[in-house]
Amino acid sequence: RRPAMRVLRGPLLSFDADPGDGDSPASGSVRYLEDGALWLDEGRIRAIADYTELAPRLPAGIEVVDYSGKLMMPGFIDTHVHYVQLDIMASYGRQLLDWLNEYTFPEECRFAERAHAESVAEAFLDESLRVGTTTAQVFCTSHPGSVDAFFHAARRRGLRMLAGKVLMDRHAPDGLLDDTLGGLADSERLIADWHGRDRLGYTLTPRFAPTSTHEQLDATGAVLRNAPDLHLQTHLSENLGEIDWVAELFPECEDYLGVYERFGLVGPRSTFAHGIHLTQPMRRRLADAGANIAFCPTSNLFLGSGLFDRQACQEAGLATSLASDVGGGTDLSGLGTLKAAYQVGQLLDQPLTAWQGFYRLTLGNARALHLDEHIGRLREGGEADIVVLDPEATPLLARRTARCRTLAERLFALMMLGDDRAVHATWANGACVHQRDITSQAAAV
Ligand code: GUN
Ligand code: ZN
Repeated sequence: RRPAMRVLRGPLLSFDADPGDGDSPASGSVRYLEDGALWLDEGRIRAIADYTELAPRLPAGIEVVDYSGKLMMPGFIDTHVHYVQLDIMASYGRQLLDWLNEYTFPEECRFAERAHAESVAEAFLDESLRVGTTTAQVFCTSHPGSVDAFFHAARRRGLRMLAGKVLMDRHAPDGLLDDTLGGLADSERLIADWHGRDRLGYTLTPRFAPTSTHEQLDATGAVLRNAPDLHLQTHLSENLGEIDWVAELFPECEDYLGVYERFGLVGPRSTFAHGIHLTQPMRRRLADAGANIAFCPTSNLFLGSGLFDRQACQEAGLATSLASDVGGGTDLSGLGTLKAAYQVGQLLDQPLTAWQGFYRLTLGNARALHLDEHIGRLREGGEADIVVLDPEATPLLARRTARCRTLAERLFALMMLGDDRAVHATWANGACVHQRDITSQAAAV
C-alpha cells in the first residue's frame, strides 16, 4: 500500500547541523520556512521549498494539506524506551533496584504470553504517534515473542524502529531468565527475521551488567564483532546501589564501564542509558569509542537516580541523546522530555535552549543512532516522518504563544507547556498516522 502523493503546506523547521548552546543557533544550522511546503511521494520527501516556489511544479489536482498556523518538524526520536513497561508507568515509591523487583520484573513476566505482547505493542505505538514520536530504540522483554509482536506492529504501520530481545540469565525471576547461550540463539533468529526488513533494525539488548553472566556478555560481544551494523543498548551507572552491586559482581573490572569494555560491547552503535554517575575519564573512554549516552530526565528524576551533567559529557566529546525511558520515565512525549531536561539543566546551571532541545529530539538523536541518512531532517529524498505541532493547541498555549515575538520564544513555550495536545498530527512513511481529535474539545467549549 503506497501512500498517495500529497503536499503539506505551512511553517516548517528542521536542523541541518548542531545549533550549539548559544541563545542564537549557529549559522546555517536551522532551516525555517514561514510558508513552506513538503511534497510527499512514496514515503519520501520529494521536494521541500517555499510554497509559492513549489506550486508551479506541482501536478494538477494534488491534495494540499493546510497546516498554516502550525509548525512542521521531523518526527521525534526516542533513543531509549521500554514498550513493555507502558502499564507500570507511575509506580510509587521505589528507586531502581527495588522498582525493578517490585514492579518491573513481575510485569515483564506477563510477556511470555504473545497476545499480551501484541496488545501492549499496539497501545505503545498508538501513544508514541500521539506524541509525535516516529522512531524509537526499544527494549522488549527476554521473551522472543515480545520482539516479534513489536516488529509486526511497527511494520504494519510503516515505522522506522530499532528493538531487541532482552538478554538476562541471572538475578531475576525464573519467568524472565533466558538460557545463557539460548538467549543469543534467540537473538540471532530475530536478527535473521527482522534486521533490515523494511524500516526495522535490530539492537542487541543485554539488560545491564548485573543480570547477565560473564558468559552471556562475552557471547553478546562475539555477535556484535561479527555484525558491526547491529546496534547495542544497555544501562550504565544509573543508581549508586546498582554501581556498588556491579563492583561486587565484577571485581576484576576497573569500573562499571570496564565491564562492558571487557566484553567488547562499547562501540559507535552502542547506546548507554542514564550514565549519570561517571568520571571524566569514563566519559572520555565512551567518547573515544563513539558511543552515546541516553539522557533520560523524567526517569532520572522519577527514580531519584540523579542529575545528568550534559555539559561534562560535551566537554569530554561524548555524544548525548534524549530519551523517555518509559516506564521509569513518566512521559512518552518528546516535549515532556525536553521540559524535564530543562529543569535538570537549571539545577546544574546549564539551561537547555529550545534550539538545542529540538535539535536533540530530531537530527541529534538520529545522528546518535546513525540513522541520519534516513530520518531526523526535512530534506529532499529523506523519509517522510513529520510531526505537526500546534502552538495554539490549548487556550493557555494560545495566550502564551500570542505573546511570543520570536521563533525561539515560541519553541521554548512549546517545550515547557506542550504535551500530547500540542501534537496536531503525525505522519510516518508519507502517511498520516495520527490526527488529534479536536471534536471532543470543541464539544466541551
Ligand atoms: N536497569 C536495568 N533494567 C532497567 C530498566 O528496566 N529500567 C531502568 N530505568 N533501568 C534499568
Ligand atoms: Zn531503561
